Amino acid sequence: MTHSPASDRNTGSESPPRGRPVEADAFREAMSRLGSAVHIATTAGSSGRAGTTVSAVTSVSDTPPTVLVCVNRQARINAAIKESGVFAINTLPAHAEDLSNAFAGKGDLPAEERFRLAAWETLATGAPVLCAARVALDCRVTEISEVGTHSVIFGEIVALSLGERGPALIYLDRTYHRI
Ligand SMILES: Cc1cc2nc3c(=O)[nH]c(=O)nc-3n(C[C@H](O)[C@H](O)[C@H](O)COP(=O)(O)O)c2cc1C
Repeated sequence: MTHSPASDRNTGSESPPRGRPVEADAFREAMSRLGSAVHIATTAGSSGRAGTTVSAVTSVSDTPPTVLVCVNRQARINAAIKESGVFAINTLPAHAEDLSNAFAGKGDLPAEERFRLAAWETLATGAPVLCAARVALDCRVTEISEVGTHSVIFGEIVALSLGERGPALIYLDRTYHRI
C-alpha cells in the first residue's frame, strides 16, 4: 500500500470536511494554533483615551518602519483610531495577564478605569504608552483596509520605546503562556 503524507494532512478528527467552505468557527480554531505575543493597542483623541488587547500585530516593512494591526470593527477603539489617526502598540510582559484581560473587556471596565490599572506615558503622537511594555511602537496611521469583520490598520512607527527584555506574555491555544 502506498502512503501519501499529503493526503493525510487534513484528516484529523478536528479538521473540517474537505471541499466545503471554511466556517468561522473552524477559522478561529485554526488561528488558536498560531501562538502570538499579546499587546494593548491604544489611542487618544477628542473622546479621550481608548485601548484594547490585540494579538494580530505584524511587522510590515523597515523602510519606512511600518506595522499593521487588525482591529474588530465593533471594538470601541476602531472608530477612535480612525478619528485620531494615531495608535500605539504596547507589547506585554509575562506578569501582565490581568491587564490583558481588563483591556479585552473582562470586568466591563470603562476606558479610563482600564488605564488606571497601570502607569502610562506618551512619546511622539500622544497615544498612551505602557511604561512596563517590553516594547512600545508609537504610530501614525498610513493606510486602512476593511476586510470582513476587521480593519487592517497600517501605521508608520514615529517613535519607539525598548523596555526590559524579561519574560513575555504569549497567547496560544486560547490560553496565556510565559516564555
Ligand atoms: C489575547 C487576546 C488577543 C486579542 N486579539 C485581538 C485582535 O488582534 N484584534 C481584535 O480586534 N480583538 C482582539 N481581541 C479581542 C479584544 O480585546 C476584545 O474583543 C475587545 O477589547 C472588546 O472590545 P472593547 O475594547 O470595545 O471592549 C483579543 C483578545 C484577547 C484576550
